[in-house]
Amino acid sequence: MAQFSPAFLDEVLARTDLAEIIGRHVELKRSGSNLMGLCPFHHEKSPSFSVSPDKQLYYCFGCGKGGGAFQFLMEHDGYAFPEAVEYLAEKAGIEVPRQAASDPGETERRNRAFELLLKVADLFARQLAGEKGVVAREYLNHRKLPEKIIRDYKLGYAPAGYGFLQHCFGSDARTSAQLESIGVLFKGDHGYVDRFRNRLMFPIRDRRGKTVGFGGRILGDEKSAKYLNSPETPFFHKSDLLYGLAEHREEIRRRRLLLVVEGYMDVLALAAHGLPIGLAPLGTAIGERQILEILRLHDGPVFCFDGDRAGRQAAWRALERMLPVLKAEHSPRFLYLPEGEDPDSLVGKEGSEAFSKRIEREARPVMETWLQGLRNIAGQGRDGDARMAKKADTMLKSMTDHFLADAWRNEASQKTGVPITQKFIKSDAGTVRLKADRMSAEEKFVAGLLQNPARFSALTDEDSRVFLDTNPVNGIYTRAFFIIQNSRKGEISSAELMKKLADSATDDPNLALWSNAPDIEDEVFSNLLATVRANVIRRRLKGGIGLQEAVELKRRLNELDGQRRGNE
Ligand code: UTP
Ligand code: MN
Repeated sequence: MAQFSPAFLDEVLARTDLAEIIGRHVELKRSGSNLMGLCPFHHEKSPSFSVSPDKQLYYCFGCGKGGGAFQFLMEHDGYAFPEAVEYLAEKAGIEVPRQAASDPGETERRNRAFELLLKVADLFARQLAGEKGVVAREYLNHRKLPEKIIRDYKLGYAPAGYGFLQHCFGSDARTSAQLESIGVLFKGDHGYVDRFRNRLMFPIRDRRGKTVGFGGRILGDEKSAKYLNSPETPFFHKSDLLYGLAEHREEIRRRRLLLVVEGYMDVLALAAHGLPIGLAPLGTAIGERQILEILRLHDGPVFCFDGDRAGRQAAWRALERMLPVLKAEHSPRFLYLPEGEDPDSLVGKEGSEAFSKRIEREARPVMETWLQGLRNIAGQGRDGDARMAKKADTMLKSMTDHFLADAWRNEASQKTGVPITQKFIKSDAGTVRLKADRMSAEEKFVAGLLQNPARFSALTDEDSRVFLDTNPVNGIYTRAFFIIQNSRKGEISSAELMKKLADSATDDPNLALWSNAPDIEDEVFSNLLATVRANVIRRRLKGGIGLQEAVELKRRLNELDGQRRGNE
């Protein structure tokens, strides 16, 4: 993964206008020294989303999301950290340092790979439109996919035969190796051959919309898998991708509706019927990371499953995977479709209005699905009750939102008549205390701030800036900063601050750690402040900076060391 120097990150942030970045999605109005608007991360009617143009931070008092420019792009637009940095650097006209990538050739190789993938997708699309594409076009016709969908999602056709791509790109070893590395050629006994042959092609894009691989549906009746996907490559990780994400993100946010379906064709059929809100995993069971991404995008997604045995099993698997990332703020629902139907066939039969009504009527809340699933597994009667309570207990332990787990526990206790007691709190607190001994200076520093919010007044604007995005303690620091700034005259008790932080739906496990930290005295705190400032300078010195700046930073480092000794 790319490593950027703190100096470079500072430079990028310095030339970035957070209000402008956010202003593209949110209408911001001035309110005192801040800008306010409707939070883009959760639904609200009155604005609680605040942006500080001075500090270049944002924070939502409603849902607790907060951070700086990098974080906004990551959370709102699904960028990975290096992508957010590169995007903003490019926008600001700053050259991304060559040493930024751990391997200098890597960025280039990636870009070349993306280019190639796009070219291959183009070639397939052209084949679909051309002479050889007749059968595939007829098939799409038969499946009732309109032209517009075919174009928008750039469906294509990989012709029969083994040498199509080499025919297009030539067969020099370098190019073939590149085509192999993006998964469209593989090495057979007689050299490179096409992976996808006589298949309808679905290009698969990552969260930013870059084509990273393909799914290919069989057209003839060959004895081979119905769908064939690209193999795993450095940028095609099936468990990290969702079909439809880049295309549907905006509509999902706008309509506040998200359907998780099983297949490519389901996603496309829904879009064809005016429901461009579907997402699908790539043939594998949906995983925790995909669920996390889904819940970030929308707190009330509807998971659609087939009504048969396999569908119920898939639903249960999804539910199990969901538990560790599920929060009280989320309200996912599960929808079982009539046996033998998938969203594609159903929306085709009954139309989008009836289909939407069906969702409203039949989708069941996740807790209900859980209880029903438990009962199915455990069976009826007193024995069943005991088995159900036991299984419930096991599953509750994988949940991380303790309020939600408590609510579910009560419900399961009631349903079974078996009290399911909470047995893991103790060991949890033990871990927290254990970890407190090994806290970094930065972590202790934040703990100190939380214990006595008045300490915030000792911080300079520069201190605030250096915690932007580049520091592991940033999340809580940012939230705390805004909460304090907005409290009356900046006065707030530690307890009140902690409560507000916990209320702000932060899923930061560190909050528990920091709130359980041993008391940090004033002298210790000022030492910590000096240490943290010194650490920032040291990190900066390691990055490529000019001589003059290095001299100045070293001077300040000496000063800080002096301060610390003076305190001891
Ligand atoms: P389905 O068999 O339900 O596909 O598999 P579907 O979308 O209804 O396909 P059509 O309607 O017959 O065209 C669901 C998903 O599972 C993956 C694909 O991602 C597919 O969209 N799959 C299925 C595979 O990866 N390989 C297979 O052989 C079959
Ligand atoms: Mn289908």
